[in-house]
Amino acid sequence: MPSLAEINALDRRAFTAALGHLFEHSPWVADETWPRRPFSDAAVLHAGLCATMRGADRSRQLALIKAHPDLAGRLAQQNQLTAESAKEQASAGLNRLSPEEMLLFQRLNDDYRARFGFPFIICARLTAREAILVAMESRLANAPEREFQTALGEIEKIARLRLDDHLLGVRPESNLWIQAAVFSPR
Ligand code: GUN
Repeated sequence: MPSLAEINALDRRAFTAALGHLFEHSPWVADETWPRRPFSDAAVLHAGLCATMRGADRSRQLALIKAHPDLAGRLAQQNQLTAESAKEQASAGLNRLSPEEMLLFQRLNDDYRARFGFPFIICARLTAREAILVAMESRLANAPEREFQTALGEIEKIARLRLDDHLLGVRPESNLWIQAAVFSPR
């Protein structure tokens, strides 16, 4: 279980290697947060990471949003999610969908992408699948800028839970029940 003191002592490469996964496929967030050390606690470290993300230019923010997989999407069905994503989607029950529910997710994912140009992001570990579906429908009506900002806010929540796991020494690969419950229709 890495302590904050240990994290504060890491050189830039090791820091990025340890925390690069907190933002999906975007280790630059950790990398560019390293100069903000030392961090007095997890909340301060998380705030530093979020400040880096919020301070990045818009094209990088958009790329970060686009780095997220669709919920119950093609990557999930092909078991090509990162370990963290697989855990997040499974925690919302998205690995146990009926074929009809799969189709519904597919349609809403496609509608959302067509309207906004990026995937629908919600912190799946904090939201059950029924609530995710309700949010997908209702957020489709929002203005694009509002959705862009909402996506960044959800990414901050996702990163906080991933950070807490990291600090507790929880590795998603160790959740064998999730690996076993691959994305197969109910
Ligand atoms: N896409 C939408 N929500 C999520 C989430 O909670 N985690 C990941 N990895 N991708 C998402």
